[in-house]
Amino acid sequence: MVTEIKNANIAIDEAAALIKRGELVVFPTETVYGLGANAFDSKAVAKIFKAKGRPQDNPLIVHISSIDEVNEIAVDIPSDFYKLAEKFMPGPLTVILKKGDKIPYAVTAGGETVGVRMPNNAYARELIAKSYPLAAPSANRSKHISPTTAQHVYEDLNGEISLILDGGACSVGIESTVLDLTSDVPTILRPGAVTAEMLLDIVGKVSENGKIIKVAKAPGMKYTHYAPIKETVSAKSIDSAVSEYDRVRAEGKSPVIVARDIYRDKVQDRAQISLGVTAEDYTRNIYGALHEAEKSYDYIIIEELHGGGLETSVMNRVTKAAGGKSV
Ligand code: TXA
Ligand code: MG
Repeated sequence: MVTEIKNANIAIDEAAALIKRGELVVFPTETVYGLGANAFDSKAVAKIFKAKGRPQDNPLIVHISSIDEVNEIAVDIPSDFYKLAEKFMPGPLTVILKKGDKIPYAVTAGGETVGVRMPNNAYARELIAKSYPLAAPSANRSKHISPTTAQHVYEDLNGEISLILDGGACSVGIESTVLDLTSDVPTILRPGAVTAEMLLDIVGKVSENGKIIKVAKAPGMKYTHYAPIKETVSAKSIDSAVSEYDRVRAEGKSPVIVARDIYRDKVQDRAQISLGVTAEDYTRNIYGALHEAEKSYDYIIIEELHGGGLETSVMNRVTKAAGGKSV
């Protein structure tokens, strides 16, 4: 299959036609690019698992273009959903609800719950409005880093899909927060840019924090995810990043330090990929930096962040990329 990248400005109608025919389309969102299929069509959804090499027991998120559409996806929707929707939808939040009959078990991996999210990207919503709600995971080969540009998708899935809608670089840069509203206390299954503190303002009570996230009802969390193809570690401080760099360099490896610009002086003339300045920059840039690093270097050292909120969310992804190895 020939894979084409087309500007989202001109190719939405073509993409909608593909979705209506039961085919896959890659589309931009504010978090990462998604690999979408008609969420009501189990045959179309099966193609997603095949294209990605994704394990069948990992459920997909259903993307909607307006809040009303949730009624076609889920049942017994609690009032918390509507409160959250008012504040965070469209946005980088996925809410787990009780599944409706129209959603096939191919989407939910056989489960009785379904993830619902309204992306904050006008192209994505237009595509959905012109076709169907889209079941979509991140548009990467299973276990590889999520894509934040159309080019990242092309490199991973070339030949598996026919159309990538190019909507530019993703503005958030890591996957949505996944919040389970089917448990007694709303539970964060995957941290993201909508943080526990932000959710607490709306729902009063949230269960989160490493401990619960690791027990994870989000089946995807048990797989090593978001991993570059080259050896990767995270560094507790810039000093340990620099000494790790010098250590592996002496062994003949070709390392790179992935860090914020504030450390230029300490990193000096060692190979560096910039993550920008703020925690938001770091989050937006991290996957792109890892894509770049794995192409040109054979040992990747990532600066850790130690603050709360978004810093904790993005560290969740960095820890996975490094397989938990911290120096
Ligand atoms: O930002 C995002 O969420 C991106 C964009 C494309 O929307 N999508 C994404 O999808 O990251 P994916 O499939 O790569 O990750 C979805 C996560 C997985 O960890 C999955 O296990 C979890 O959400 N999930 C989906 N449906 C679920 C459900 N019904 N119950 C529990 N976890 C669920
Ligand atoms: Mg993914």
